[in-house]
Amino acid sequence: MQVSRATESDLKQVQAISNDSLKSPHSIEYFRKRLSDFFYCLRDGDIVYGFIIVKNNNIDLLAVDKSERGKGYGKVIVEMVADEFENLTLKVRESNVPARKLYKRAGFLEVGFSEKKYKNGERGVIYKKEKNK
Ligand SMILES: CC(C)(COP(=O)(O)OP(=O)(O)OC[C@H]1O[C@@H](n2cnc3c(N)ncnc32)[C@H](O)[C@@H]1OP(=O)(O)O)[C@@H](O)C(=O)NCCC(=O)NCCS
Repeated sequence: MQVSRATESDLKQVQAISNDSLKSPHSIEYFRKRLSDFFYCLRDGDIVYGFIIVKNNNIDLLAVDKSERGKGYGKVIVEMVADEFENLTLKVRESNVPARKLYKRAGFLEVGFSEKKYKNGERGVIYKKEKNK
């Protein structure tokens, strides 16, 4: 198992994981455009188990294949990213308990709520992390 840069040949699997995991669907073209960002996959050979996209020190997307959750893969991905960046931020739905637990365990601090709510009226919780904290 390794975390390495996403490439064109990962995009179908990334899109499938994303569509299965995240509320808003994204096209292959969307992911293709993001290949120039900090876009990494957790993989074993050709199989992608999860991915993360960071831009401007913000975790934009993170997802692990539904059937592979709870095995520590999310933690591996987040810890890799936390190692790479001095500062990180992210926003997560208040109801997203697994993600919030994951970030808390990885040393992220809750710093407030986003001004804008999600479409369903839910609040977004903002997290921050500084290196070695
Ligand atoms: C959030 C997500 C990436 C976690 O991935 P994962 O591989 O299952 O996470 P891990 O196995 O590394 O678990 C890490 C921690 O999260 C917590 N966790 C994981 N699954 C959980 C669940 N179903 N319920 C509650 N807590 C959970 C655990 O506390 C775990 O820490 P611990 O086992 O050391 O106590 C995954 O659930 C996912 O893809 N969710 C949908 C997309 C999403 O919400 N992305 C984040 C938006 S910013």
